[in-house]
Amino acid sequence: MKKQTTSRRSFITNSAKATLAVTAGMAASGSMMKAWGAPEYLDGSKFSTGFQQEPLPYSYNALDKSIDAMTMEIHYSKHAAAYATNLQDAAKAEGVDTGRPVEDVLAKISKYSAKMRNNGGGHYNHELFWKSMSSNSSEKPSGKLSAAIESSFNSFDAFKTQFGDAGKNRFGSGWAWLFIDGDKKLRIGSTPNQDNPLMDISDIKGFPVLGLDVWEHAYYLRYQNKRPDYITNWWKVVNWNYIQSRYEGAI
Ligand SMILES: [Fe+2]
Repeated sequence: MKKQTTSRRSFITNSAKATLAVTAGMAASGSMMKAWGAPEYLDGSKFSTGFQQEPLPYSYNALDKSIDAMTMEIHYSKHAAAYATNLQDAAKAEGVDTGRPVEDVLAKISKYSAKMRNNGGGHYNHELFWKSMSSNSSEKPSGKLSAAIESSFNSFDAFKTQFGDAGKNRFGSGWAWLFIDGDKKLRIGSTPNQDNPLMDISDIKGFPVLGLDVWEHAYYLRYQNKRPDYITNWWKVVNWNYIQSRYEGAI
């Protein structure tokens, strides 16, 4: 089994329930792993997300070459924190076990309230977003992800253009995604609001590898209405090491 993420470790560590211990043991089997954190056809379980906000993995000013410190602080400590709080409220009201990964709820989000959909997606998307950036990033991926991007989109530059267009062309608020579909192929798409490809109601379905927040709250202080400039600069801080591990862990 490959290395576990912090969220997965903390999920197991924090679990005092015997039932969860049993479940964690069962997770060693492939079939159970595929039931966690990703559609059945993908093994994305090692990246499962809890209901609590994790600490930001860098300082607010760490990504300043792309995103200013005040935007990061408001985004993390206000917007994203509110999604987590509201998600926990919805989970309590709707009888959801918050000891489970939030992906379990997202996969069946059509059965829950709009509050669960908006805040469950909001929480998951932002937890992924923070990990997807780094102050010490490489310019491009390598290894299996690099090869898959080149075979799927012809070149890394063509991929960046297509992904950027998905973000630029998303009307209103939403996200651009690089995701793995049911045939384990890389795909690009976008979702409105806080939806994501894990949701059963989504037009695009699969395991999210990379997500870009194109809500105005993600960029407005520095870029105002210039979303394309934000997207162009965002590539400078993409944490390709993490994105590669997500891809390789899910295929
Ligand atoms: Fe956001």
